[in-house]
Amino acid sequence: MKYTLNLLLFVLLFTTACTQKDSSVKSPDGTISVSVGSENGKIYYTVNKENKTILNKSFLGFILKDSELDKNLIIRDVKESSFSETWEQPWGEETLVENKYNQLTVNVEESNGLKRKFTVVFRVFDDGVGFRYEFPEQENLKDFIIMDELTEFALADNHKAWSIPYDTQYYEGLYKATPVNELDTVCTPLTMETKDGLYMSIHEANLTDYAAMNLSPKNKTSVLKAYLSPWSTGEKVFMKAGHVTPWRTIIIANKPGDLLLSRLMLNLNEPSKIADTSWIKPGRYIGIWWGMHMEKYTWYNGPKHGATTANVKKYIDFASQHGFSGVLVEGWNKGWENDWTKEGDKFSFTEAYPDFDITEITKYAAMKNVKLIGHHETGGAIINYENQLDSAFAYYQRHGINTVKTGYVSPLLDAKEMHSGQYAVRHYRKVIEAAAKHHIMIDNHEPVMPTGLQRTWPNLMTQEGVRGQEYDAWSRDGGNPPEHTTIIPFTRGLAGPIDFTPGTFNFTNPVYPNTRVQTTIAKQLALSVVIYSPLQMASDMIENYENNPAFEFITSCPTNWSKTVVPDAKIGEYVTIARKDRDSENWYIGSITNAEKHNLALPLIFLDKGVTYKAKIFKDGKDAEYKTNPYPVDIEEKEVTAETVLNLELATSGGTAIILTKL
Ligand code: NOJ
Repeated sequence: MKYTLNLLLFVLLFTTACTQKDSSVKSPDGTISVSVGSENGKIYYTVNKENKTILNKSFLGFILKDSELDKNLIIRDVKESSFSETWEQPWGEETLVENKYNQLTVNVEESNGLKRKFTVVFRVFDDGVGFRYEFPEQENLKDFIIMDELTEFALADNHKAWSIPYDTQYYEGLYKATPVNELDTVCTPLTMETKDGLYMSIHEANLTDYAAMNLSPKNKTSVLKAYLSPWSTGEKVFMKAGHVTPWRTIIIANKPGDLLLSRLMLNLNEPSKIADTSWIKPGRYIGIWWGMHMEKYTWYNGPKHGATTANVKKYIDFASQHGFSGVLVEGWNKGWENDWTKEGDKFSFTEAYPDFDITEITKYAAMKNVKLIGHHETGGAIINYENQLDSAFAYYQRHGINTVKTGYVSPLLDAKEMHSGQYAVRHYRKVIEAAAKHHIMIDNHEPVMPTGLQRTWPNLMTQEGVRGQEYDAWSRDGGNPPEHTTIIPFTRGLAGPIDFTPGTFNFTNPVYPNTRVQTTIAKQLALSVVIYSPLQMASDMIENYENNPAFEFITSCPTNWSKTVVPDAKIGEYVTIARKDRDSENWYIGSITNAEKHNLALPLIFLDKGVTYKAKIFKDGKDAEYKTNPYPVDIEEKEVTAETVLNLELATSGGTAIILTKL
């Protein structure tokens, strides 16, 4: 598919060279402003929205291995410019994205000594701010090592923040709401609600050859400071003049739903490097997967092996019959027979177990118009994986496989580096680029937190980096609590698509009877709309879908959208999202709640005026309740228009899912 950058307008408003200390720039709509100044040789910025302070003086700078780069600084000159374009996403939550900002380029220099220089570039959008450091090539700064990034976010108040600790394994934690000054070091996106009713989220965009940013409050105040994930040797980033840092981003919104509609993350990434994106296709998949988590199958070869030719064909038949585009098969390759989270270096990515005939399977799949989704579990052994990377993707490409799920289960990569450090960031990028060369889409598990790179590499479809549905299979704490999915769209979801894998229909757990899906079935359906992912799994084993009328919602729900709206949301309590299909005039609605029931009157004002739609409503049935009676689903049909107000009644941890077909 053609990845067209539709450049509408580029206007350089004016460029001024000035030496005054405080300079500011406003968003195109004038509501958000950023000021930059210096005080006692230190550089700071502030952010305001209308008459509200978002950030007080927040200082900038670095500690390098051999020196400090935050003192004796002067602002050499400041340039202002503007930019406006509308670009088209090959896939996404909407087709067209407006990228419109005013920019302030602040050139900073040490006033004495080595007179080293850096630039801070601020981009102010109507929905927030991004800024990054740029290090021009210069005589006295070549290769250097960052030991600490001193970037601050001096919040105006002690806001309520939803966070997971920075060292949460694979970002698979439950988000907790606490006042900012009680936080330990936490991951971004860090989403906050202010006392005066604003919502904001701090994160980063375009994480390239750098370490992921975490945040920690300075001395128990509400001044947050960047904390970069370190290398095992303590350094944070090996840097070179001529390079830039990721963008530090602050989304600012009047409503929780507006956080989800911000495209600031994408706009701060580079346009696509893949010219022809016609091979990149969103879709919905099933897999030989939940069966492993339920211990019906094993990943390794043996009497309960899941990835056998016969079993995969059964899944292909089912996928074909119900219109799924893909079948994920885990446990097909040699290496699973080892203690693989410690011995990932024994994985082969080109040798299948003898009972998995890839040629026969892929031929069969092609006949049935289904694609196999490949799987590369590395057990965190990156060197082993990189040694095989090209042949591994070439092997799949030869067999017509165009999607690969990657995985890195092991607390440290190559037994020493964090998933969020510069070592990992370099590796994940190598994989995306190698995959693109072989026309392969990536679904990455145990990733570094996403930062909007899918704009530049649209084959990076979706990632985990979240406590997903699999926790409902084996988590000793009983599974994901009801509020979890009402929080993650506003935290992890702001970073990018989530491979959460909703859609479990059978909640019986033979392995851990006290662990199970803590929702109603109707909520499982609604999650297909609420949690955005261009590749989305229906997680259950196929036998659990047979003859269940509710399954129709999952098989009908698209994964690629032309528009998204969020009519109703309260973080941690409830959320309703409506999305318009990219390939038709139909809309899909997902509405979910936490452990409390939720009633809402939903005006369908987003529908086309003067047109009638058939609404097929999948809702919690009579007496449905997530703990004791999760299964009843009522299916109702009625005609609606843009004037209709639908009354939805969600059970405890319940949901409603609606298909709106234009008549
Ligand atoms: C963890 C992943 O999240 C899960 O989806 C996968 O099945 C296992 N690793 C094995 O690779």
